[in-house]
Amino acid sequence: MIKDPLAKALNDHVNAEYYSAYLYLTMSAYANRCGYKGIANWLFVQAREEMAHGTHIYQHLLDRGATPSFADVKAPQASYGSIKDVFEKVLAHERHVTELINRIASLAFNENDHATYNFITWYVNEQVEEEANADELVTKLRNAGDNQSLLYSIDAELGARQFVDPFPQTDA
Ligand SMILES: [Fe+2]
Ligand SMILES: [Fe+2]
Repeated sequence: MIKDPLAKALNDHVNAEYYSAYLYLTMSAYANRCGYKGIANWLFVQAREEMAHGTHIYQHLLDRGATPSFADVKAPQASYGSIKDVFEKVLAHERHVTELINRIASLAFNENDHATYNFITWYVNEQVEEEANADELVTKLRNAGDNQSLLYSIDAELGARQFVDPFPQTDA
């Protein structure tokens, strides 16, 4: 059985993961409107991953005897200055999510909830990858500047991303 403060932190984090999905969907729509279908695809896949993350935490709450509860998902910013601006915000957002995950890990550790600590370490590792990916894309976009042919080659590269369910065996 999970204790209340940790259950609340995980519930809040389900909301944060769904907010991430909303954020990446709005960014995907923006990229689509700008004509960058590949970048839009990458962001859409990212949104689906965030939904999978949220649902996985929901499942953990149920598995540990808690009842998941739901709050309003905040509306994300809908318009952006440029594709580079989008990815700078992706990076800032992922750094923020890392802080949230670290707080949950510390709470689980301090409460001796080893099951949740073990569960959340997957997210700790995932955030390393999330920040590295976002950081790499910000650098590429900064280097590309206004060079359309470089931007379209980044677009083609990101168009190849396919959604892979991170937790195929644990779907409810
Ligand atoms: Fe996530
Ligand atoms: Fe993320």
